[in-house]
Amino acid sequence: MADDLKISTGTKSEKYQTLVPQIKALLEGENDLIANLGNVSAALKEQFNFLWVGFYLVKNDELVLGPFQGPVACTRIKKGKGVCGASWAEKKIILVPDVEAFPGHIACSSASRSEIVIPIIDSSERVIGVLDVDSEELDSFDETDATYLSDIINLVGFNLGK
Ligand code: SME
Repeated sequence: MADDLKISTGTKSEKYQTLVPQIKALLEGENDLIANLGNVSAALKEQFNFLWVGFYLVKNDELVLGPFQGPVACTRIKKGKGVCGASWAEKKIILVPDVEAFPGHIACSSASRSEIVIPIIDSSERVIGVLDVDSEELDSFDETDATYLSDIINLVGFNLGK
């Protein structure tokens, strides 16, 4: 892999449509989870310049900070706590248009205003981690993000254990 990431300046959907095949190419031929999550975080950060984008992985019944791009973050989150812990407990995507209106939101960065968290679910229906994306602007995320970010997680999933 030698090419720089091709950055789209189009609509949100166009940005994802340009990015997804490039992420697919980045993941192909690599089966190391940390390497792949690192590159997925970097690619999303480079295309969208999100405040924070990264992964928490379930270890010993806690979410533990994994590969990410952005300001330093809290390292451990308990099940049900914050947006990440709620996404884990409820096994569902959570869109938060205004973090101040989300009870129990964990403010790793005071600049965060809105976020989306997507659970990563394995073939046994267990949550193995979450993808957390934070923005400095209110109401940054919608169903388009939910759809494409889920697709990106599935690309990583297909590489798990290969
Ligand atoms: N926003 C998260 C905490 C993690 S940081 O934002 C990186 C939450 O409330 O779950």
